Order: sequence, then C-alpha cells, then structure tokens
Amino acid sequence: MKKSLLLVIITIFAIFLTACGGSESKESSGESGGTKLDILSWWTAGGEADALNAVLKGFEEEHSDIKVENSAVAGGGGANSQAVLSTRLQGGDPPAVFQAQGGPDLLRWESAGYLEPLDDLYEENGWLDVYPEELIEMNSKDGKIYGLPMNVHRNNVIWYNEKVFDEYGIEPPETFDEFFEIAEKLEAEGITPLALGNKTQRWATLVFEAALLNEYSVEDMAELWTGEEDFDSPEMRSALETFSKMLDYTNDNHSALDWQDAAELVISGEAAMHIMGDWETGFFESKDLKPNEDYGWIQTPNSEDVFNVVNDSMGMPTELNNPEEAQQFVEYLGSEEAQKEFNELKGSIPARTDVDLADFGTYSQAAAEDFKDFKLSISLAGGSATSAGFISKVDDAVNEFVTQRNIDNFIKSLEDAKPLLDEEE
Ligand code: GAL
Repeated sequence: MKKSLLLVIITIFAIFLTACGGSESKESSGESGGTKLDILSWWTAGGEADALNAVLKGFEEEHSDIKVENSAVAGGGGANSQAVLSTRLQGGDPPAVFQAQGGPDLLRWESAGYLEPLDDLYEENGWLDVYPEELIEMNSKDGKIYGLPMNVHRNNVIWYNEKVFDEYGIEPPETFDEFFEIAEKLEAEGITPLALGNKTQRWATLVFEAALLNEYSVEDMAELWTGEEDFDSPEMRSALETFSKMLDYTNDNHSALDWQDAAELVISGEAAMHIMGDWETGFFESKDLKPNEDYGWIQTPNSEDVFNVVNDSMGMPTELNNPEEAQQFVEYLGSEEAQKEFNELKGSIPARTDVDLADFGTYSQAAAEDFKDFKLSISLAGGSATSAGFISKVDDAVNEFVTQRNIDNFIKSLEDAKPLLDEEE
C-alpha cells in the first residue's frame, strides 16, 4: 500500500479517534463544563473547609468523570455567600448544589421557584429511615423535601483557653454572675475576657442569643419567633442588660474580625473565652489544639440542658444543565461515608443517625449524647428559627445596639420587623 495512502488512512483514523475521544473525554473530563459541578457554600475556614474538601475529594474518587469545583465564598454565616447565591439563581447561573441554613433560609428559594425537590433521592436511598424526621420536616414544604441536612451544630457554647483558666485558677462560668466575676479577674490581668468578631453581624446576634437563653425557656423563646411572645418584656430587657455588659469585656477591634479571627484570639491566649457555634471545635482541631488540654467548653449560662440547634442543609437548584451529576453529588453527600468524613472534620454531629462516631473528637461525641438528651431549641443566630428576612433585621438591630446600647430602640426595631416573622418561607 502506498505510503501516502497509509498516512491518509492513519490521519483520518486519528481524527475520528480524537473526535470520539474528544467528545467522550470532553464530556467525561468536564473540560467542556458539561459535567463540571460547582458547589456554593461559605465553608472556608479551618475545619469547615477541610470537611468540604474531604467530601469533594471523596466524590471525585467515586466519579472520576465529573469535575467538582469548590465555589465557596468566604464570610462566616454566609454573609457574602448568600448574596452570591441570590445573584446566581436570579441570573440563570445556578450552582449545582448550595449550602443554606436548614428551614426558612433554604425554603425561601423554593418559594422563588429555584429549588428541585429531593424526594426521589430520599426514596431511592432509604434516607427516610436514617435521617431524623425533625430535620427532614425542617427542610420540607407542602409535602416535598427540598434539602439534604448535612449536620447538627450547637450555638450555645462558651469556648475557653484551658491554659489561661488553669493559670489563674478559673472555673468555667455556670451563671452570668460567675461570668462577670471571671471577666473582671481576667481584665485585671490584661486578658480580653470575651473574644468577639462581628465583622459578620450574625456573630453578635449569637452572643445576644446566649443572653436570651439565660432568661427564656425553650418554649418561650420559640414564641418570640412566632410572634406569640411580646418583644418588650422584663426578660428581654434583662437579656439586653446582660448582653450590654458582655460587650464591655470584648476586644476593641471586634467589628474588624470574623468568627475565626476571634477564635485565634482564644488560641493565642490574648482572649480567654469565645461564644460561638461548635464549628469552633473543628477549627481548633484543624490547628492541632487538644480538647481539655488547650481548649475547654461549657454551655452558656442557664442553658445547661438546652441544645441550641444549627443545621446546614444542601439545596439543588432547578434548571441545571447537568441535573444527573448534581443528583449524584447530593446522593454522595447523603451517604454514610460522606456524612462521617464531613462531620468528623466539621465539628458537627452527622445529620444521618447511623454514622459510627467512634472516630469523632471528644467534644463531638459528648455533643452527640447531649443532642439525644437535651431540650432542643432551633437557633435564631443559626438562621433556622424564623424567616431570613426577620433574622437579618435582628442582625441590624443587634449591631446598632453594640454601639448605641439603646434598649428601647432595639425593642422597637424588633417590633417594626414583626411582619417579617410571617414571611412566606
Ligand atoms: C454557620 C454555618 C456553619 C459554619 C459557620 C461559620 O452559619 O451553619 O456551618 O459555616 O456559619 O461560618
């Protein structure tokens, strides 16, 4: 056969292979973006970032044909990520899967027509038997399930530097009287008693909620957020007095710091305590701190038998150009393997009830027991107690209070925002 003819045949065959391989490899490698998934969250600091990366890696190992992009947006509590999500959903550029706080924060996107129900996934994977009914219910609307709960976090925790407490012979405070006694003692030693980072407004609301938990029962607190309990009450005024006094013992630069910066103040010993959700343990462990050696924890005053619940749930938008792959990702996130990998690093309890916690950290194993035994309250600062619109108004009112300390103005702000309590989820 003539050499020139052979070359032509090889060239045609090579083009054919490339075309097939190209379209196949383009599809499979995600180069075309056809099977590239991007996951939008605000998990960017320490243990939470490690947790997210672990499940992205785990998924890609099981689905080598799908590229997953971590589109996380920094800003604790979703301060920035939520704005990006809104723009992307409304702009026709939805992420394949996104993080939201379970409940109203997630479901508001269904009301806007952007969420895909996950009922088939729950059925096909037997999730109705292994996810707590409460969490499924929290992420459902009109009989359909719109969220996959990833975890259970707890907000009513005081974290403290164990070495500072040991050095000054300080016992963890069980009441706010003890808290302020300790604060005076620490301040006299030149140590910031309470670290605060409210660059993300939500973290000041979290401290305010600790003061509320000192005054209200779980039942009465829930009625604040259904509108059945007046905002102007002796309990509310007492909580605001306590909150104001707590603020007097915080670092001056608090408005420039996010939660992880405040956690670093406790790590360095510059500050002694931090009231924060228990992603803090994931952060400490990612910095190689040891529980009960480097850091300790205690429930915030008068809430020793209350688990102030935070839930992160994943939503899947409608109108995706690769719904099958997105479903495969959600399916992986809901698996026992992913729930274990994610929560072990995150510092949270798996939402899924059949995960073996034997390898989990000291704090998380204790938290899992508490979750079974304690009274559950759905956290306001955790973004799940009521509508996102109302909670955002609370954030604004809290952050004005941080500087103005005007109790009447604060209560009026909540009363003015009351109509948002009934905001369509
Ligand atoms: C919360 C979220 C946690 C963690 C924390 C710090 O809103 O539920 O998973 O991300 O913010 O950003």
